[in-house]
Amino acid sequence: MQARTPQDSDTIITELMVPAYANFGGKIHGGILLGLMDKVAYACSTKHAGNYCVTVSVDGVDFIEPVEVGDLVCMMARVNYVGNTSIVVGIKVTAENVKNRSVKHTNTCYFTMVAKGDNGKPAKVPPLLLDNFTDVKRFGEALFRKDLKKYRNEQMKRNKTEISKDELMSLLQGERCEIHL
Ligand SMILES: CC(C)(COP(=O)(O)OP(=O)(O)OC[C@H]1O[C@@H](n2cnc3c(N)ncnc32)[C@H](O)[C@@H]1OP(=O)(O)O)[C@@H](O)C(=O)NCCC(=O)NCCS
Repeated sequence: MQARTPQDSDTIITELMVPAYANFGGKIHGGILLGLMDKVAYACSTKHAGNYCVTVSVDGVDFIEPVEVGDLVCMMARVNYVGNTSIVVGIKVTAENVKNRSVKHTNTCYFTMVAKGDNGKPAKVPPLLLDNFTDVKRFGEALFRKDLKKYRNEQMKRNKTEISKDELMSLLQGERCEIHL
């Protein structure tokens, strides 16, 4: 299978934030932005894979800065990592105020997509041809995130099955909850 560069499948979506996208506070609904991220991740991963892809996991979605009605939101997607059948797409999200031309970087997140063959089973994807150090770094960071996630999932599993009632009670000490058993 021939390797493809990340640039081969770079995808950008720009969308104007219209009033219909606003929540009751007048800012853009998080769900609108999530939908756009999913779309751009789908387009980018499908271009790389040459097969349809499905969303498997989403990391790093934090809405720290609000997006305003009238902003031009831009989602820039690039393949950061490929496994056998999975592809991690990094998405940089910016919001531009077209009146004063200020651009804010609202967040960067990572969508894990899996390519599916005609039989509906995960299908092998082309390897990634890395021709600059930034893309090498991104690939490495994706591996690091994967390891961290595995560790976190194992810890959560341990926590669910092994934590004692006493440990749990002491963990909740000082938290904003009332326990009435
Ligand atoms: C994800 C899915 C394809 C896994 O299928 P599977 O038969 O269990 O296949 P595998 O275990 O071989 O996993 C396939 C790949 O997905 C990756 N994967 C599976 N679960 C994952 C998770 N939670 N996070 C990240 N990657 C995951 C595996 O690491 C593997 O990657 P690799 O081939 O690059 O090593 C399958 O569960 C699925 O189709 N889920 C529904 C996805 C969907 O429809 N999404 C749309 C939103 S509803």
